[in-house]
Amino acid sequence: MKKLLTIIFYISVCVSSNLVAQETETILSPDRNQKVTIRRNTSGEITYQLSYKGQPVIQTSKLGFQLAKPSIQLEKFKWETAEQTTVLEEWEPVWGEQRKIQNHYTQAIIQLETEQSAVKVQLIFRVFNDGVGFRYAFPTQKNLKHFIVKEENTEFNQVANHTAFWIPGDYDTNEYLYNTTPLSEINAFEAAKKEKDIALQSLIGETTVQTPLMLKSKNGLYINIHEAALINYPVMHLDLNKANYSFKTHLTPDAVGNKAYLQTPFQTPWRTILVSDRATEILASKTILNLNEPSKIQDVSWIKPQKFIGMWWEMHVGKSDWAKASGKHGANTENVKRYIDFAAKNGFDGVLVEGWNEGWEDWFGNWKENVFDFVTPYSDYNIEELTQYAKTKGVKIIMHHETSGSATNYERHIDNAFSFMKKYEMNTVKTGYVGKIIPRGEHHDGQWMVNHYERVAQKAAENRIMVEAHEPAHPTGLHRTYPNWLANEAARGNEFNNAPTLGLVPEHETILPFTRLMGGPMDYTPGFFHFQLNQYDTTRTQRVRTTLAKQLALYVTMYSPLQMAGDFPENFDKYPDAFQFIRNVPVDWEQTHILEAEPGDYITIARQQKGTSNWYIGGITDENPRKTTIDFSFLPKNKTYQATMYQDGKNAHWNTNPTAYQIQTQTVNSETKLPIQLVAGGGFAIELIEK
Ligand code: NOJ
Ligand code: CA
Repeated sequence: MKKLLTIIFYISVCVSSNLVAQETETILSPDRNQKVTIRRNTSGEITYQLSYKGQPVIQTSKLGFQLAKPSIQLEKFKWETAEQTTVLEEWEPVWGEQRKIQNHYTQAIIQLETEQSAVKVQLIFRVFNDGVGFRYAFPTQKNLKHFIVKEENTEFNQVANHTAFWIPGDYDTNEYLYNTTPLSEINAFEAAKKEKDIALQSLIGETTVQTPLMLKSKNGLYINIHEAALINYPVMHLDLNKANYSFKTHLTPDAVGNKAYLQTPFQTPWRTILVSDRATEILASKTILNLNEPSKIQDVSWIKPQKFIGMWWEMHVGKSDWAKASGKHGANTENVKRYIDFAAKNGFDGVLVEGWNEGWEDWFGNWKENVFDFVTPYSDYNIEELTQYAKTKGVKIIMHHETSGSATNYERHIDNAFSFMKKYEMNTVKTGYVGKIIPRGEHHDGQWMVNHYERVAQKAAENRIMVEAHEPAHPTGLHRTYPNWLANEAARGNEFNNAPTLGLVPEHETILPFTRLMGGPMDYTPGFFHFQLNQYDTTRTQRVRTTLAKQLALYVTMYSPLQMAGDFPENFDKYPDAFQFIRNVPVDWEQTHILEAEPGDYITIARQQKGTSNWYIGGITDENPRKTTIDFSFLPKNKTYQATMYQDGKNAHWNTNPTAYQIQTQTVNSETKLPIQLVAGGGFAIELIEK
């Protein structure tokens, strides 16, 4: 992202120290709604509490570590000093939901030293108007240099039996359906048992869940727990103790059971707690992004948000296959040309081609190290010819690097693989990590793999390549630091509609923005126009549980700078008037207004296209029909717009009549209030062009 624009205000507020016997520190957000209190108790333990508008949110929760080497506990501390500052600055992301982002917080740094081992630890808290981020820092010091973490003991103790939107804690996958239950009813093992289509599960504990974790209290507080800037450290999962609704960090172990290998100076990722009495404010939060470091890439002129189509869904539904030996190889020259033609005709930037390279006969399930070399096309894929063809059509081919989880193999080949991409004028790669990780014994969420994903993003940046990863660790806002890392999967995507057992449910996309998307954009692959997935393989019973109009809405409600149109050209060609919305919808925004939202129920978002006066609105519901009224007061006064509205047809229903839609136009301005009806599993999309 672009460098800081302005530092408007930066002052040192106060310095306290144990000379004045103060072993408690209170930090208020700039608007004073969020209040964090950090204390040293009589046994020397350090705790924090959080309240919002006077209501307790996190009750007394401990902070600390257990180290494996040196074998010590970091749990009893002497309180040295505390220092507060306030920061207000504004910066401009390379791409995003809004052109400018304000970063406004009160920071406290508390210097601690362990009582026994005299290890220095700093706690850094940043309190924003919409929540809190805090991290541990281990400065350079005499008593700690290299160290191995056995566990981080950070608690997030809830005050009551909130409703939780959760997926099972798992070291290797985040592709679960969300469960909505009170905390007291979380059972990760039971939930995971229903999931027959996840290739690799590494469950952690009966009450262990993943972040971003979304909670709602009975008195209407929305609480989101996650992490920011996950660098050189394992993914944080959360162990719940149902007796007191307390969560404790559970880091992902490596192959020998350790959690992290560190060296001073080191700072952990931020632990984030967002709190609001409005669900819309959680979705609008930029705190996780603000807690990440500015862009490491100086010249960002080559980084571009994109829309693409793909030689991909046809393999998933059995029309063709990745492997040449299957006898129905999808990625052959003629077929890829067809996709390039379609992309060119409809203004797409790219065509993803999967199954272009040798190795797919034997790619999955064998824990095999040398799967692909990433530079050898199948003999029926004429890469020279396709490169020229794509160029004449003004379309880029998007590279696919499925690693099969063999990260060591990918790292050995990556320089060649990126040179190959440059030779064939490709600037974007989709990576993938299906299956068990190599180095064997490592997990997708462990420190080794977290470092691997970052190395790939770094190396890609050196080669001016944009990346999106499938099956990586959960995103934590690192796209601020590496704006070439456009998106990730890291959740159950639209493609899971093809999973035989559970598939997707209509509420899924009303939960994802409150959970997975808090960490960053997702390659969700919206845009399915055909819902019974037996089009080419009549034995299949899978189906997509959505209306067609809802698929359009997802381009607005599921923010990403990299949006696919998931279905086949031939299915889009059946509904050219509806497809027009996908052709028109932008992937980069001037500003965003979250108009209404409730996790698990509905979301309506309005976004202004970057650099134009056009607006796009998307609204979705879960399995329940819904009436709403769009209040256009977010529009500038004294301007009129031509609204093109893509809505569910009157008798539409995700189950019985998903393709029924209606398209209407009318004039709107900032005074307009527009009633809209969403059917079960439905949605709507609106394009506003200034008159
Ligand atoms: C899983 C990915 O999520 C999917 O998009 C891809 O087509 C397959 N792996 C094959 O790489
Ligand atoms: Ca996947």
